Amino acid sequence: MERKKNISMAVIKRLPKYHRYLAELMKNDVDRISSKELSEKIGFTASQIRQDLNCFGDFGQQGYGYNVNELYNQISGILGLTKDYKTVIVGAGNIGQAIANYTDFEKLGFTLQGIFDINPKLIGLKIRDIEIQDIDYLSDFLKENPTDIGVICVPKINVQKICDIFTKNGVKGIWNFGPVDLVVPEDVKVENVHLRDSLLTLSCLLNDIE
Ligand code: NAI
Repeated sequence: MERKKNISMAVIKRLPKYHRYLAELMKNDVDRISSKELSEKIGFTASQIRQDLNCFGDFGQQGYGYNVNELYNQISGILGLTKDYKTVIVGAGNIGQAIANYTDFEKLGFTLQGIFDINPKLIGLKIRDIEIQDIDYLSDFLKENPTDIGVICVPKINVQKICDIFTKNGVKGIWNFGPVDLVVPEDVKVENVHLRDSLLTLSCLLNDIE
C-alpha cells in the first residue's frame, strides 16, 4: 500500500484513536471490520473513517470491510511506531513521576533512559530502576546518550531553559507539559499537553445549555 504524503494535521490527530481501537479489536481476535462497525465503536462517522483511511492507501474492500491487522500495521507505520525512541524526562515531580511510572509507553517503543531534577532531595532516588540525576549533568548525558524525545515537566519559569538544553544536544522531539509556548529550531517538533484544556472542555460540555 502506498502511503500518501502530506496527511493533514486533523487526520494525524485522529490516528492514535484508530490505532488504539484497532489494537483492541486485534486483542479480541476480530479480523475484519466495516467502516460502519468501526464508526459505531470509535465515534467518527463512517464517511469520515473512509476519507481518513483513503489518505494512506486503498484499504477497504466493498463488501469485505477493513482487514484489522493490515490497517493496524499501516497506521503503526504512519505513527512512527516501527522504530524505538529514547526519552528523557526533566522534572521528577507529580507529572514527571507519573509519566516515568507509566510502563505502557515502553511497550509502544518509547524507552525512558534518564530522569533529571534540580531538587537534591530527589536526586539519587530511583523510579523504576532509573536514578534521578542532577540537572547539571543533562547536557553531558544527552551528548553521551543520544535522545529522541525530551519530556518537560518543570515549573513554567524553567521550561524554555530545559527545552534549549534538549535542542542544543540534538533532541528533535519535545513533549511539553509546561504551560509555555516553546521557541525551537525549525527541525524540532513540539507536542504540548494541556490537561487543563481537556478539563475545561468537559466543564463547558456540562454547561452546554440549549
Ligand atoms: P512539581 O512541582 O510536582 O514538579 C516539578 C519538578 O521540577 C520538581 O521536582 C522540581 O524540583 C523540578 N525542577 C524545577 N526546576 C527545575 C530545573 N531547572 N531542572 C530540573 N528540574 C527542575 O510540578 P508538577 O505538578 O509535576 O508540574 C510540572 C509542570 O507541569 C508545571 O509547569 C505545571 O504547570 C505543569 N502542569 C501541566 C499540566 C498539563 O496538563 N500540561 C497539568 C498540571 C501541571
